[in-house]
Amino acid sequence: MNNRDVFSSKFGVIAAAAGSAVGLGNIWRFPYVLGENGGGAFFLIYLLFIFAIGVPVMLSELIIGRRAQKSIFGAFKVLAPKYGFFQSVGIIGVLTAFLILSFYSVVAGWTVEYTILALGNNLADKSPDQLADLFADFSNSIWRPIFYLIVFMGLTAAVVIGGIKNGIEKYAKILMPLLLVIIIILCLKSLSLSGSREGVLFLFRPDFSKITGNVVLVALGQAFFSLSIGMGTIATYGSYIKKKENLLQTAVSVSFIDTLIAVLAGVAIFPAVFAFGIQPDAGPGLVFVTLPNIFNQMAGGYFFSVAFFTLLVIAALTSSVSLLEVVVAYFTDELGLKRKQATFLGAFLMIVLGIFCVIYPKVFNGFEWTSSNLLLPLGGILISLFVGWFLGRNKVKDELEAHGGKAIYLQVFLFIIKIVAPIAIAIVFLNNLGLIG
Ligand code: PFF
Repeated sequence: MNNRDVFSSKFGVIAAAAGSAVGLGNIWRFPYVLGENGGGAFFLIYLLFIFAIGVPVMLSELIIGRRAQKSIFGAFKVLAPKYGFFQSVGIIGVLTAFLILSFYSVVAGWTVEYTILALGNNLADKSPDQLADLFADFSNSIWRPIFYLIVFMGLTAAVVIGGIKNGIEKYAKILMPLLLVIIIILCLKSLSLSGSREGVLFLFRPDFSKITGNVVLVALGQAFFSLSIGMGTIATYGSYIKKKENLLQTAVSVSFIDTLIAVLAGVAIFPAVFAFGIQPDAGPGLVFVTLPNIFNQMAGGYFFSVAFFTLLVIAALTSSVSLLEVVVAYFTDELGLKRKQATFLGAFLMIVLGIFCVIYPKVFNGFEWTSSNLLLPLGGILISLFVGWFLGRNKVKDELEAHGGKAIYLQVFLFIIKIVAPIAIAIVFLNNLGLIG
């Protein structure tokens, strides 16, 4: 065993991995996507994908990481020296981390700006039109988004530089419980508003007539992005997990927390949206324009707007940390850099790419589209196939039983990652490329 930094406790592992999974994808994207795609019916399909495909793929990543004790790039060199082809997965993973983090931290920068606006009570005196203009002006300008991008990347680097135990784990253990408390307070407030019932029904009433082939595919895509799987982020964290930890339990807990927070975000947002008679329309506007309007009409709006934007910053930060760690692990393992140098270099490169995303919306959209629609599904297929067909049953069994238990579910797991997951993901992948559907 080498002297690789490790997560010190089970709670630390789960907090850090759940921190990666819970992010902007949960808090504004999930509620909106669910609402648009049949509410409760979509939710049932999403749950099926999370637990039938998401958990097995996450478990595969944990196995790869813990077995190899390397970054996602180095992992395939160690585990598959004979199959050079699979090393492309490591390259794709590191590349995807760059692409996702550069646009993700631009949006995260907006959340920092809005937290500061909320703190200074500068959202409260605005009319709905002024709030819409504020968001349009801000997101279309150059210097302020770049400034907040740099601030956010600085925060991310400050956590990563501390290492696994004293950086990522330490902050996740504080920030994740805080996130849970904030979101529960927001849910209680939202549910207490008169007229909130419509919002709850909008979220959970299953409307099976809205389920089409495309809706099923959207649910699978959302499950992947939300769980942070398909590019080696979870594998990288897996390389810091001690042998005595139960990997199945980790994958199930993280997936459960991720789903819970997504649902709580829906419960925090939609009852309030409906209570104030606002259309539950899509995208960034929901969080940056619609919600400030709601806070302005709400008793205690100042407190709730500060709480909400702080929640977004925390969620984004614990996810961006995991993305930067993919790159830092690569730089330290493969290029022999010290953690500090690797963090600075990674953050610097991300900022440069992020600046391109701010200046050229086409780059922003291109990075977003390429990473989530192309690279994550491709990575997911290759990771499942690798663990299912190439890693070897004994090594898989060994990792699943290293904590001292018996993996009675081994057959089912292997069946899913050998056959079910690759086929299901391939369908999404081909659909996103416009080849089917
Ligand atoms: N899971 C994060 C979210 O839902 O916002 C996004 C993400 C983080 C995707 C890390 C991929 C990743 F590796």
